[in-house]
Amino acid sequence: MNFTRTMKRNYSKLMFKQLFDSTSFTYTYIIADLNSKSCILIDPVLEKVERDIKLLKEFDLDLKYILDTHVHADHVTGTSKLMETFPNSSWVIGTKNKPNINFQRVQYVKDDDEISVDDIKLKVLETPGHTNGCISFYSDGRVFTGDTILVRACGRTDFQEGNANQLFDSIKNKIYKLPDETLLYPAHDYNGISNSSIKEEKLYNPRIFETQTREKFVEIMNNLNLAKPKLIHVAVPANLIGGIISK
Ligand SMILES: [Fe+2]
Repeated sequence: MNFTRTMKRNYSKLMFKQLFDSTSFTYTYIIADLNSKSCILIDPVLEKVERDIKLLKEFDLDLKYILDTHVHADHVTGTSKLMETFPNSSWVIGTKNKPNINFQRVQYVKDDDEISVDDIKLKVLETPGHTNGCISFYSDGRVFTGDTILVRACGRTDFQEGNANQLFDSIKNKIYKLPDETLLYPAHDYNGISNSSIKEEKLYNPRIFETQTREKFVEIMNNLNLAKPKLIHVAVPANLIGGIISK
């Protein structure tokens, strides 16, 4: 046994925070290694970047990776603003989301890739369906699902190359294959429930409970008749380049 390594692991302390934006109902997550001061941030919101920076500075954290689960349509990501403040940070996004400019400090990730910084380790799961380029992250008993699956709901599939059949496969064959006790942390919640578990969603998700059929799921998703997000025409082009809004 490597004693030094064991000692380091025993003394390492991971911090986890779930933050909320009440305008877009978005959750942002921070995972930090308080020994090394390295941290990662998942799905920042532009209007909440000052809050996030203040919090990271209070803990003297060095932001290494900013992860976007997908190209959001309902809010602009805080990624590029955070990258200005934290020069050691890189943007992580699914490989299917190719920006049309030469963007530095970006890492495209695909299924089974690992994002690793000191004692923080995340595994990438490609989970298309809400959008073509959606990814989820699994880390130490938690899964960050973006809009792939929400608490008792799931992301819509009617724009950004969304596809209800693909979403069914992503949830059934990737998310629901994780251990039942895995805690599920979504990108949004509209009902005041901040997290769930795989088992809970298999039991109680009205759109995609464990024995739901593909046909019924696709029928539900194709008949949601939702209005388009108000910000979609601003947010999608901005988020393809990390959240820079063109003037
Ligand atoms: Fe979304």
